[in-house]
Amino acid sequence: MLVGARRGRAWIRVDAKGKLEKKKETGMSDKNTKERGVMEKLVSLCKRRGFIFHSSEIYGGINGFWDYGPYGVALKRAVESLWWRYMVEDRDDVEGLDSTIICHPRVWKASGHLDKFGDMMTDCRSCKARHRVDQMADKTECPNCGSTDLTEPREFNLMMKTFVGPVFDEDHAAYLRAETCQPIFVDFHLVRITARQKLPFGIAQIGKAFRNEINPRNFTFRSREFSQMEMEFFCKDGDSMEWFEYWRGERLSYYRDLLGFGEEEIRIHDHGPGELAHYAKAALDIEFKFPFGWGELEGVHHRGTWDLERHQEFSGESMEYFEQETNTRFIPTCVETSVGVDRTVLALLCHAYDEDTAETKKEGKSEDARVVLRFPAVVAPVQVAVLPLSKKLAEPAEKLYKDVRRSFRAEFDVTGSIGKRYRRQDEIGTPVCVTFDFDSLEDGAVTLRDRDTMKQERVSVDALGEVLRERLG
Ligand code: GAP
Repeated sequence: MLVGARRGRAWIRVDAKGKLEKKKETGMSDKNTKERGVMEKLVSLCKRRGFIFHSSEIYGGINGFWDYGPYGVALKRAVESLWWRYMVEDRDDVEGLDSTIICHPRVWKASGHLDKFGDMMTDCRSCKARHRVDQMADKTECPNCGSTDLTEPREFNLMMKTFVGPVFDEDHAAYLRAETCQPIFVDFHLVRITARQKLPFGIAQIGKAFRNEINPRNFTFRSREFSQMEMEFFCKDGDSMEWFEYWRGERLSYYRDLLGFGEEEIRIHDHGPGELAHYAKAALDIEFKFPFGWGELEGVHHRGTWDLERHQEFSGESMEYFEQETNTRFIPTCVETSVGVDRTVLALLCHAYDEDTAETKKEGKSEDARVVLRFPAVVAPVQVAVLPLSKKLAEPAEKLYKDVRRSFRAEFDVTGSIGKRYRRQDEIGTPVCVTFDFDSLEDGAVTLRDRDTMKQERVSVDALGEVLRERLG
């Protein structure tokens, strides 16, 4: 078991034998200093501004677990509700589900996770480090100390185990779900019948998943506890490739049109025949260009009839669908879209992070550089900041703020110079600041300041709601 202790900016992990392992705060594995520089700045900004920080930090942290602070949780919730609206609420053919994290253990036997879900690992007999074989450039030599004295690769299961009830033995063992989709397959008939759905239709779920990853790394990219947004779309086998292409298009336009990811930031990796599961007709990864390299954001998978068939076999309950029109029974084919919430948040942070060298003196800051998060307004943790120019204006400005926050995620800030307050809002990615000054008392107008252009314009308070709606969508 590892315990942690924090020393300066480095993380020190201590194993049971008292051996120290130094680790950078970011957990970065990439050697490229420029790119690592961007990640380190981002990790530090996330902590400084309360987006994301190590879980249990006062105890030295726990590797692979992250807490989302006030702005982080606002960003995460905005990502989840955007996905939910796009995938469930705006459609008639996808239903929602919120299932438990712990399921009957046979669910994971049926899904194959208990037998096959793992990485091949090797231990270095010399320095005692454990490595994933598929991540070793040279499979004969320890990447930590260079020794060639390695154990034979062994399978290491990633399922997290717990016990249900007061007796801690194998009969009471249970597992934290490793993916959110399995309960969707298990509940297929219940959801279909209660929602009165016919093929083709989908079931979606957002929730926590747990994997005992060997090497959690690259900030939140590979964590041990994370959230997934998954949708399983059930259809007739003959139509399944058409649906696969449909969902490829939908998911790409979600990233491009809603999250604003550019052509150079995302790409598709189509799985070749050698990469496909035996039951799958097609699969693809949507990858994002992170500062540490291209990484998988989402998978769109043709899962065939595999999951429903396995649950039918292990539960003894029929998973067949009866089609009245043709008077036939069959197991539906499934096309899945599966994306990590934490990876989407990380991609958004990387996409949004910018250092601006625009002239900022006029905004009360002596240096001419600023850090700015250019979030799309739809996910920005704070969409509008209302800032009274002076504390004397706090009362009328706060009244305006309370109006604004009925329609937008808003914040009221009265402390510090106006320049410093703008810088702070830039750093948390607020698209619009509304400044209430002494003239506002006379002319009933306020100043709107744009995060990206830093341009300011005067807008009447009466028209403010409409102007903000236009800008923020
Ligand atoms: N149901 C299919 C499934 O779970 P996956 O490729 O293992 O497929 C889907 O995971 C998505 O979940 C990934 O594309 C990624 O965004 C996210 N994900 C997987 N493992 C993760 C981890 N250890 N930390 C953070 N996100 C992870």
